[in-house]
Amino acid sequence: MDVSNLIEKDILKYLEVHQNKGLLRFITCGSVDDGKSTLIGRLLYDSKMIFEDQLAALESDSKKVGTQGQEIDFALLVDGLAAEREQGITIDVAYRFFSTDKRKFIVADTPGHEQYTRNMVTGASTADLAVILIDARKGVLVQTRRHSFLVSLIGIKHIVLAVNKMDLVGYSQDVFDKIVADYRAFAKQIGFENVLAIPISGLKGDNITTETDAMPWYTGPTLMQHLETVKVDDVADQAPFRMWVQWVNRPDLDFRGFSGTIGSGSIRPGDKVRVLPSGKESHVVRIVTQDGDLAEAIAGQSITITLQNEIDISRGDVLSTPVSLPAVADQLNATLVWMNEEHLLPGRPYLMKIGAKTVSATITEIKHKVNVNTLEKLAATTLELNEIGSVNLALDHPIPFDPYEENRDGGGFIFIDRLTNTTVGAGMIHTALRRAENIHWQAVDVNKTARAALKRQKACVLWFTGLSGAGKSTIANLVEKQLYALGRHTYLLDGDNVRHGLNRDLGFADTDRVENIRRVGEVSKLMVDAGLIVLVSFISPFRAERRMARELMADGEFLEIFVDTPVGEAEKRDRKGLYKKARAGEIENFTGITSPYERPENPEITIETTKQSAEIAAAIILRALEERGMLMGYRVAEDTTPTA
Ligand code: ADX
Repeated sequence: MDVSNLIEKDILKYLEVHQNKGLLRFITCGSVDDGKSTLIGRLLYDSKMIFEDQLAALESDSKKVGTQGQEIDFALLVDGLAAEREQGITIDVAYRFFSTDKRKFIVADTPGHEQYTRNMVTGASTADLAVILIDARKGVLVQTRRHSFLVSLIGIKHIVLAVNKMDLVGYSQDVFDKIVADYRAFAKQIGFENVLAIPISGLKGDNITTETDAMPWYTGPTLMQHLETVKVDDVADQAPFRMWVQWVNRPDLDFRGFSGTIGSGSIRPGDKVRVLPSGKESHVVRIVTQDGDLAEAIAGQSITITLQNEIDISRGDVLSTPVSLPAVADQLNATLVWMNEEHLLPGRPYLMKIGAKTVSATITEIKHKVNVNTLEKLAATTLELNEIGSVNLALDHPIPFDPYEENRDGGGFIFIDRLTNTTVGAGMIHTALRRAENIHWQAVDVNKTARAALKRQKACVLWFTGLSGAGKSTIANLVEKQLYALGRHTYLLDGDNVRHGLNRDLGFADTDRVENIRRVGEVSKLMVDAGLIVLVSFISPFRAERRMARELMADGEFLEIFVDTPVGEAEKRDRKGLYKKARAGEIENFTGITSPYERPENPEITIETTKQSAEIAAAIILRALEERGMLMGYRVAEDTTPTA
C-alpha cells in the first residue's frame, strides 16, 4: 500500500513503517533559474506528502499566478514553504521532509547566489548526496563548478548531475552527452568518482519519479529511484568506533554513564575503549538506551555507556576503539569557510566547537585562499564573508580529532565569536602540524614565583588602555617611577616605543592592531614569568584582544586600567597633533575618529582624567597593588603620602 494512504487509515501503522525506513539527507544545488524549486516541488508532490488542503490551495494559486497555464506550479509550493524559515537562524537554508514507501528524505534547499556559500556549507554539512542541477540550454556554468567544489569540500561522496529542462532542447541525447562529458572532466579535478547523470524535466516530470518515453536513449534510473536505492550509510558504520561524550550522566552514586551519539563505527558490551585526550582505557559494561540495554549500537544511535572502572571522563572527551585512535593535537591545518560580515582577524581568539568540545583557537597563518570559481589559490591576509582558505590553527588545549576526509563528525568544526556568540566560520581539519609534535614545553626549576620573590614582589601586568593622548603613558611613567623608588623591578612597554622595534612592521588596520596586542601580550607574559611588574601602555582598542592578553596570565595577575578621557578632551589636548592630522584626513584609521575604541566593561581600575590628576591616579594604582599583596613589605601609609 502507498505509505501516504496509511496516514488516514492507520496512523500507528504508518508511524511504525516510517520509523523503520532509512533516511537519506541530500542537498540540491543550482539557482532558481535552473528549475530547482520546480524540481523539489515535483518530488514533494509525487511522493504525495502534500496534504489535500495544501494541494487545493496550490491548484488555485497556480491558476491565479498563471505561469504554467492550468497546470500546477510546483515552484509556488516550495517558495511558499520557504516562508516558514526557522527562527533565529540568519542562514538561509530551508529543510524539507518527504517520504516514499522505501525511504524518508530530508532535503536542504539553499539559495544559489555567490554570496550564499555559507548557506550551502550549512545545508550540506549533514548531507549524504548532492543533486547538482544544470540547465540543459546553458550547460556547465561557473556556478556549477562553484557548487561542486563546495560539495567536494564538505565531503559529500554521492553526486547526481541532474540535467534539467531537457524538454527545451528537444530531449536531445547529443546535448546531454556533451554536458556530461564536460562535467566529468571537471569532476575529476575535484576528486568526484561517483557521478550519476540523469536527463530530466522538472516541469514535465520526465525521469523525476516516473520513466519517460521522451528519452528512450536513457536507460538509467529516474531521480527518485536513485534516491530511494543509493547506498550511503556504509561508510560511518565501518569506520572505527568514536563517540563524543555529550554529558556525564550521574543520577545517583551507583550509576555513572557517558552519553552521546555514536559518530562512527559500532560498540558492544565487553569492548575495550580508550578515552581521549587522557588516554585511559576501560571496558564497556552496558549500553543503555530509553528502550532498554543493547547488545550492539552503531553509528547514529544515541546511547549511554557505562564502564568497568571509574575513570575521569568529561564532556567533550572522545571514546574510541583502542585499535584505531583519533589524533590529538593543538596545532592543526584546516580549511576554513568564513561566514561573517566582519572579516577574519588572524591572531584573535575565537571559540572552536568540535564535536561536544569547545576550545579557544586562533588562526596563526592563512596559507592561501581559494577562488571558488576557478579553484585558483591566492595569497591572503584575511578571509572575507564566503571566502574559503587553507589555514593553520593554534588551540589552547589539545583536542582529539579525525581528518575530515575520513570522518566528517570527527574533523568538522565551527568558529564562534566570543563576544557576540554568533557562528562566524565552519571548517574541516586535515592534519596536525608537525612542528607542534616536535616542540615540547621545557620544564624549568626556577619559576615565576621564585623569581618574583627574590625581588620582594608578585609579578603582574598593569594594562593601561584608552585613546591616544588619554594620558596612559604619563600615568604609567609615574607609577613606574614610584615603584622604582621603592626598589621594585618593573618594565614599561609603551605602544609608541614598541612600534619602533618589535612591532615596526605593523600599521593601524584592524588586523595589525590585533597582532600588535597579541605580541605585546606574549611579551608581557614572558616578563611576568621573569618576575617583573609590567606596565603596558597601548591603546588596545578591542575588547577581544584585551581579553586575550588577560587570559595569557594567571588569575589575579592582570589589572586592566582604563584611562578614561573623552575623545573631545583628548582632541583638545592633542599633544602630538595627531587628532588634527586625523581630522584633516592625513592619518587613516585613527582611534576615536575613524577607527573604533571599545570601552572596557569590567576594568579593575578606572581613571577619569578630567577629574583625577596623574599623581592621584598613580596613588590609586599603587594602593591597588598593595591591597592585592603584590608588594611584599610595603604599606601605602608608611611609605608614601599620595599628593593630590
Ligand atoms: S594600538 O591601537 O595598536 O594599541 P598603539 O598603542 O600600539 O595602538 O599605538 C598608538 C600610538 O600610535 C598613538 O599613541 C599614536 O601616537 C600613534 N598613532 C599613529 N597612527 C595612529 C592611528 N591611526 N590610530 C591610533 N594611533 C596612532
